[in-house]
Amino acid sequence: MMNANAVRPLAALDPLETASIDELRATQLKRLKWSLKHAYDHVPFYRQAFDTAGLHPEDIQHLEDLAKLPFTTKADLRNHYPFGLFAVPKRDIVRIHASSGTTGQPTVVGYTQNDINVWADVVARSIRAGGGRPEDTLQNAFGYGLFTGGLGAHYGAERLGCSVVPMSGGQTEKQVQLLRDFQADIIMATPSYMLNIADEIERQGIDPRELPLRLGIFGAEPWTDSMRATLEQRLGIDALDIYGLSEVIGPGVGMECLETKDGPTLWEDYFYPEIIDPATGEVLPDGEYGELVFTSLTKEALPIIRYRTRDLTRLLPGTARPMRRIDKITGRSDDMLIIRGVNVFPTQIEEQLLTIEALTPHYEIEVSRQGNLDMVQIRVEAASNDIARDPVLCEQLAGELQHAVKTYVGISTRVEVCGVEEVMRSVGKARRVKDLR
Ligand code: DLL
Repeated sequence: MMNANAVRPLAALDPLETASIDELRATQLKRLKWSLKHAYDHVPFYRQAFDTAGLHPEDIQHLEDLAKLPFTTKADLRNHYPFGLFAVPKRDIVRIHASSGTTGQPTVVGYTQNDINVWADVVARSIRAGGGRPEDTLQNAFGYGLFTGGLGAHYGAERLGCSVVPMSGGQTEKQVQLLRDFQADIIMATPSYMLNIADEIERQGIDPRELPLRLGIFGAEPWTDSMRATLEQRLGIDALDIYGLSEVIGPGVGMECLETKDGPTLWEDYFYPEIIDPATGEVLPDGEYGELVFTSLTKEALPIIRYRTRDLTRLLPGTARPMRRIDKITGRSDDMLIIRGVNVFPTQIEEQLLTIEALTPHYEIEVSRQGNLDMVQIRVEAASNDIARDPVLCEQLAGELQHAVKTYVGISTRVEVCGVEEVMRSVGKARRVKDLR
């Protein structure tokens, strides 16, 4: 009998997923022109911004011309709360999501039926790029609700034809029970929540390698290659990175391909990427680090033009697909800590603590000010309570981490090694930094 798996994946790829760069650029330009006109004609904010810049959508004749247009920021979305940037009448909106943010005022995004279809398509494409197939069972541990993770992943997995288990975030014991009973092949979660699930699998005395789970699709927060290695080893799975943000659509803006595991491929036939210098706004060439900016090419309800994500990364040439990739996101510019003048991302500390076997990646960072000096305290859980109860060993581990952080990140820290489950656990995006300054 023919092995269906061997033929189906390739046959099922979107033509655009494997189109030549020339075809891709031509499609992007055509779609970009539509998107700019749509925004200009239907969103007063964009019309005004273009007019002020002395530009009309017709002036954009090449993809590079996009650089002439002004940026859109999160503040612009907030200033038009809730629906001021929508480009279609309310009756055409079939879904609304919102992200809470730290300042209280949520950022609201809307979708038409076509937008929902495109979103399901890009998420289905993402899961397939990770090796997911219609016959797979997929447990979705992204939170359902206003957060785009749960429903975004759900519709995409259904579109691919998977059997979806809509667990949402939380109920960790039950997550493990269902992983075992429903025999999921794929799980989607934030990487920090997956760590909790891995702990619970161990706590229940289950050998993760005896579960059929083979693929984890993780995202919604920055994570490191060291974290990938930890999750892959502990669970005996492939751990892949899915990227996205609500303002652009939700999860599925980009996805790492199984065969290369080298950073998310951006689905740039729908979302046009640029990298800019965050200080000057100047567009940087591919390969240089800066802030990722997106322009939606097909979105109807909320066209978004040159949206500044604040995510720091670089654009890399395509490998598994002709479309470009991004490097792993170091962090958001808003997550960057400036410690006595040194720029630090929590992921850099994560990388160091994962090199020490007796420590876990459950950690939190507290920054305070003593006099004029920034003080950084890292609290990290020991791998077992036996370790945590041994003060000499804890001191030695703390010293090791301090030394590694000083050497590789360049800052002095205080480290406290604590017992199991003493660091607050997240079921969604981890909040690891407390800045008391
Ligand atoms: O987090 C959408 C999503 C859900 C992506 C599930 C992937 C999986 P927001 O809540 O709007 O949307 O937050 C978007 O999260 O700008 C990044 O800072 C961060 N982020 C998302 N994916 C990744 C990732 C969803 N793979 C913000 N790596 C983005 C690093 C990520 N950061």
